[in-house]
Amino acid sequence: MIKKAIIPAAGSGTRLGPFTDAIPKELLPVGDKAIIEHVVDAFGLTEVTEIAIVVSLRKHGLSDYLGSGKKFGMHFSYVVQEERLGLANAVLAGEHVMNNHQFAVVLGDNFFRPNDFLRDLIAFHEEEHADATIGVAKVDDVTRHGVIKAEGGNAVVDLIEKPKPEEAPSDLGAIGIYVFKPCIFDAIRETKPGYKGEFQLTDSLKILVKWGKKVVYKEIPGIHIDVGTVKDLVRANAYYLDNRDREKR
Ligand code: G1P
Repeated sequence: MIKKAIIPAAGSGTRLGPFTDAIPKELLPVGDKAIIEHVVDAFGLTEVTEIAIVVSLRKHGLSDYLGSGKKFGMHFSYVVQEERLGLANAVLAGEHVMNNHQFAVVLGDNFFRPNDFLRDLIAFHEEEHADATIGVAKVDDVTRHGVIKAEGGNAVVDLIEKPKPEEAPSDLGAIGIYVFKPCIFDAIRETKPGYKGEFQLTDSLKILVKWGKKVVYKEIPGIHIDVGTVKDLVRANAYYLDNRDREKR
């Protein structure tokens, strides 16, 4: 049973300026909730009760808004990523909270529907007894994603972070949701700076593959919006407001 998770929420959100000069992007609203609150709701459909939220130094707004987690029936701790050194580095910041247990990761600035995507990914990870499970979808723009190369069944044999279209091994892109055994932390410690000079989780996953660990993927149905721009924010809002009455929650 997976009871722990990390939500990376330390990105700068420069493309959502000037709002993000004052408000962390994860707190921008999609309908009547902050983006990250929809992610917390998805955790509410799983067994996860303990979440480490990784924030940057100037993002105390997140703890002001979300609090201790009590109102969600969970326990939140806030971990500071002092420098923006990439997603792998953000995940590593939560290691002490995971305390050698399996855990899920969902990016705090992504919007998903239907919201049971995480429950399904965790169930798949457990059925597969995987070391790492990556949620993917067919993506239009491979240059915005970590892209996987799959082989037979659901095995991942290679990954490239934000490839040029002609170098992409497939059109299956990571959509910011993962489930891990603690060995991912050892792989992160071995990871060298990659794309943009940052520590990329994609490269840590590649190390797990090299070590012969079981890395699998699952295609996630439904919609996924990585809320990076105002256009993404408007799209997420339009989708949510058009569909929420029909949602079973
Ligand atoms: C991150 C990951 C990338 C993944 C993406 C999903 O990139 O590095 O592999 O595909 O999230 O949203 P970012 O969006 O932080 O640039």
